[in-house]
Amino acid sequence: MKNIDSTGHTRGESIYLDDIPLVQGTLFGAVFGSPVAHGIVRRLQVTEAASYPGVVRVFTFRDIKGDNQIGGIVPDEPLFAEEHVHFCGMPLALVVAVSEKAARAAVQKIRADIEPLSVIVDARVAQAKGELIVPPRTFRLGDIDGAWALCDHIVEGRADTNGQEHLYIETQGAYAVPMENGNIRVYSSTQAPTAVQRAVSKVTGLPMHALDIEVTRLGGGFGGKEDQANVWAALCALACLHLKKPVKYALPRTDDMVMTGKRHPYSSDFRIGLDKDLKILAYEVTFYQNAGAAADLSPAVLERTLFHCTNSYFIPNVRATAYSCRTHLPPNTAFRGFGGPQGMFVIEAAIVKAAEKLGVDAAIIQKRNLLHTGDAFPYGQLAVSETHACWEKSEELYDIAAMREEVAAFNRSQQLFKKGIAFMPVCFGISFTKTLMNQARALVHVYTDGSVSVTTGAVEMGQGVSTKMMQVASTVFSIDDSLVRIQSTSTMKIANTSPSAASATADLNGKAVLMACTEILRRLKDVAALELNTTAESVEVKAGMVWVGGQATGMTWKQLVMAAFVRRVSLSEHAHYATPDIHFDPAKEKGHPFAYHVYGTAIVVATLDCLRGRYTVDAVKVVHDFGVSMNPLIDRGQIEGGIVQGMGWMTMEEVVYDDTGRLRSNTLSTYKVPDIYSVPRDISIEPLHTQQDNLAIFRSKAVGEPPLMYGIGVYFALRSAIRAFNPSAELSFSAPMTPEKALMGLYEKQLEHVPG
Ligand code: MOS
Repeated sequence: MKNIDSTGHTRGESIYLDDIPLVQGTLFGAVFGSPVAHGIVRRLQVTEAASYPGVVRVFTFRDIKGDNQIGGIVPDEPLFAEEHVHFCGMPLALVVAVSEKAARAAVQKIRADIEPLSVIVDARVAQAKGELIVPPRTFRLGDIDGAWALCDHIVEGRADTNGQEHLYIETQGAYAVPMENGNIRVYSSTQAPTAVQRAVSKVTGLPMHALDIEVTRLGGGFGGKEDQANVWAALCALACLHLKKPVKYALPRTDDMVMTGKRHPYSSDFRIGLDKDLKILAYEVTFYQNAGAAADLSPAVLERTLFHCTNSYFIPNVRATAYSCRTHLPPNTAFRGFGGPQGMFVIEAAIVKAAEKLGVDAAIIQKRNLLHTGDAFPYGQLAVSETHACWEKSEELYDIAAMREEVAAFNRSQQLFKKGIAFMPVCFGISFTKTLMNQARALVHVYTDGSVSVTTGAVEMGQGVSTKMMQVASTVFSIDDSLVRIQSTSTMKIANTSPSAASATADLNGKAVLMACTEILRRLKDVAALELNTTAESVEVKAGMVWVGGQATGMTWKQLVMAAFVRRVSLSEHAHYATPDIHFDPAKEKGHPFAYHVYGTAIVVATLDCLRGRYTVDAVKVVHDFGVSMNPLIDRGQIEGGIVQGMGWMTMEEVVYDDTGRLRSNTLSTYKVPDIYSVPRDISIEPLHTQQDNLAIFRSKAVGEPPLMYGIGVYFALRSAIRAFNPSAELSFSAPMTPEKALMGLYEKQLEHVPG
């Protein structure tokens, strides 16, 4: 089934925040962000801005009626800077005017007199100064200190991954509208309506029941709107509260890029030990996470880095330590993979470094150490064996020997172009790592014409979750999809939602829809039994008709619904789902945090132009564990998008902050993302169907985040191509592998030997 939004998107009819028809009298906001990354605010001059034509009012922290605090996990993030600024772009004032143009022009008239303080942009520097967001955490398995003595080969090194701009097509924004009784409705481009509701409540001092946060859909989220949509919603609501007028702020692209956090850059040290048979016996890793100026979601992201530090491998002795380091960048935040990709890059780098040192193919070490059923992860949960199965199926499906020979033959015959090949196995845990967040609710109404309305906490952001919710309802009722409508979510319809995140949205909300529809169906069968003089057990609803004992009756779905209404039977249900069997004890760092894991393997081939450092990705061939996909079209789209986004992070997307903490890559002319021409020529996706009871909705496994990590294989394929040209290149493990970096690697030793 096609994504139900595809027609609306193609025709431009889908409604995003900026498409909502405006209420008369709507005012427009624009933020004045701190021009320096760290300093003490001596004076903020807003009088000129306040008297600018069209300006209604300028707001600062003094106007906050509740608390000047929007921190989620740690209360360390003021909405407006007071005497200190901690990052460039930190909001100091909000101008509200009769037009966007006037608001933005007036922002230019604000002057801030800020005494600069020393700026930290590097995580290791922050850690050395004791600037930590939360205390460090360590995951342990086996006896790491005893294990080194058993190793025949020990390799150590450092690996760095840079940040990544979310670059959702729809920028951040909110629109707050005053309602009667002092209520405020906020339309927000957020993955987390309840997080917005809490933040707005805190800042305005209004109770949560006075706030309706409404979300139709997002033009992309990728994690960037999990926590960071709160700011704009709180600003608009605050102005709305004071002015009793609707206030809207949809960010211009550059404001969005400058003011919001991104994927966390990580710098890591690793040490890996192998025995003579290339079994990995020991792995020690230290992660330095660049959290930015406030906690945001960093502690949770840090935790997922630890959960995925051994990726798809069983390593009996592990010690992994992670530091969340406070710097003067905008607070970094969730981004597809949520710290997992950063952890996986390091173990892959360690394996590649060991392989290069030993003169063996990295794939031999990878394959020999894949997880098997019953192997323990460092956090105590036991694996089931699909990583192995995906790898083996890829060997069956794709002629790897021939692919390798093709690469080798190409490299023998070409001097100025080289190819590289790399394997990227992936194992990703599904569930919020914070157990309490694994709950969801659905509200289902069946109307007397037989049409069905479904509301959940799931936010549609292009990932197709609405289509999947529709499939759940129409499957349970066995009625045509056209009878089911998925409604926009709102905190007044569905309360206390978890964000649409952690790849878990379809599972959690889908299970709640399943429960609600199943309960309504149970009642309907009772009604049918009474109407048709039979037992409920013998009644079936199939293809829009009522069946008894396997025979179609004349009764239609619509007649059945009307019969229930006439008998005063409830046609509505609100269901609550909580993932069973999951738990985690942070004191011991052990437990069973994930409902299940998603597995996969990608084989990546890339071609490098050794004169220019440019490259193309020839093929990404994947075997992916879908469970049993309930929507192969949507799931395939998620995998293709994930691969390209992961590849962008690993190759061309380069977030650049200078030493003063200013973002230099603040437009699309200075920040390059993959376009259609950089998409791999061949993306093959073969399913591994697994039947285990995996707690996924209809056994259709989560698919949002795991494929992003296939993109890591592109980095290592390029590295291999560089070494085919220049075998003596030392090459640091530092992503992204931009063409510039590839070129430096190609001529590394030669450059050093240039005389003078
Ligand atoms: Mo996602 S990175 O879990 O919002």
